[in-house]
Parts: sequence; structure tokens; C-alpha cells
Amino acid sequence: MSKETIAELVDVSRFYGKGDGQVTALEGVSLSLAKGEAYVLVGPSGSGKSTLLHLLGCIDKQDSGSVIIDGIDITMKSLEELAPVRLEKIGFVFQSFNLIPVLTAYENAEIPLLFRGFGSSFVKDRVNEVLEKVGLYDRKHHYPRQLSGGQQQRVAIARAIVGNPSLILADEPTANLDSKTGGDILDLLLNLNSDDELSVFVASHDIVVLERISKVVRILDGKLSID
Ligand SMILES: Nc1ncnc2c1ncn2[C@@H]1O[C@H](COP(=O)(O)OP(=O)(O)OP(=O)(O)O)[C@@H](O)[C@H]1O
Ligand SMILES: [Mg+2]
Repeated sequence: MSKETIAELVDVSRFYGKGDGQVTALEGVSLSLAKGEAYVLVGPSGSGKSTLLHLLGCIDKQDSGSVIIDGIDITMKSLEELAPVRLEKIGFVFQSFNLIPVLTAYENAEIPLLFRGFGSSFVKDRVNEVLEKVGLYDRKHHYPRQLSGGQQQRVAIARAIVGNPSLILADEPTANLDSKTGGDILDLLLNLNSDDELSVFVASHDIVVLERISKVVRILDGKLSID
């Protein structure tokens, strides 16, 4: 793998279930993502987008093939062993935000840093910095239920970037938002890509996303074709 590659999949397959009921979610997928680029992953419902993102995000394991994240070959590592890779290299943004309802915006955003055991003054400065970056500094003591969908997704992005990851994975991040708000969230992700050179991989069928990201990876029935 060249130094310029942030993530690589080689001949990766993922099956769910066993026997007659087995579903092939990914089949023979090979993919190389360049560092500092933004990609959109497009495909119909059930084509394997979330499965692919979960493998890249180290929250699921392939059944065959190899996976390399930022120069680390994680093929043989268990999900437990991958916890540090997940925490240090990956920021994950979900369609449904996945915030913890009983924690404020600030407390949600600080979670990844607490797991890593950073000191409290570093954590405070860094969390305030990312909340400022996503435009939510003045809402930091609000709970998710007190925030709009777009604001909740901003908190989720703050949480994803707080640990200074190398790769942001976003699974349909605009799907639960109106088109204006979705466009603002996409702007935020693309600004992180252009200003901070974060590598970004977004699964979406949203036309707003497709119009703005030129590197397109297409998936159909668990198989890729790259434009
Ligand atoms: N935990 C699971 N157990 C069994 N089958 C699963 C599981 N997760 C996903 N699948 C199946 O794997 C295939 C790929 O699913 P996946 O969620 O990756 O698709 P997707 O492209 O993200 O779809 P959507 O656009 O609806 O989110 C589908 O056929 C799905 O039913
Ligand atoms: Mg999905």
C-alpha cells in the first residue's frame, strides 16, 4: 500500500447467516481510498453500503479478504483488538445521529477523548474547539432533544472529529434532514476535507451529495464499480 492510501480492501467478502438463509452482503470487494480525498458510495437499499462502512470503521469483521487502515493491516485483528484503531483513526457519523439522550452536546462530543484517558484541561479545550468548528458552541449544554436534527448531526460530527481521526465515515448523514440542512451538513464534512485534509467516505443516495462529490464508488448487490 502506498503512503497516500488511507484505507484499502482486498477481495473482501461478508456473509450474514448460514446455510439456505445466507445473505451475501459484500462479494470480492477491492477498494483503495486515497488520503485527503472525499468519496461518495452510491447504491440502492440493501446493496451493502452500511456493511462496507462498518468494515472500514472497524465495527464489523469481513469473512474473507484483507483490510488495511492507515497503514495498519487489521485483517487478523479481533474487534476487541481494534478498539484503539477505532478510537484513534476513525470518526463515524450515522444516519440517525446516535447521540446519547441523557448527555449534553458537550458530553456527547467528549466521549471518544474520555475513553482515551486524556487530561481534563486538554479535553475541555479540544471539545470546545470542535463545538466551535461545527457551529454549536452556544448550544453545548443542550440535550439532543433540545436540538434540531441538523444540530444533532453537528454534535455527531463533533464527536466524530474530536479525536483527530484520519478517516471520517458517514452513513447517509443527510437522509434524516431536509435538503437545506442536509446541504449544510455536507458543507461541514467537505470543509473538514478541504481545510483539515481529512479523508471522507460518505454513503448516500442524496442528490445533493452526489452533485458535490466527484469521486464516486458504486455498489450493486455487494459488488463495486468505480467511476
Ligand atoms: N446483521 C445482519 N444480518 C443479516 N443480514 C444483514 C445484516 N445486516 C445487513 N444484512 C443484509 O446485507 C445486505 C446489505 O445490507 P446493508 O445494510 O449493507 O445495505 P445498505 O446498502 O446499507 O442499505 P440501505 O440503503 O437500506 O441502508 C442486505 O441484504 C441486508 O439485508
Ligand atoms: Mg445502510
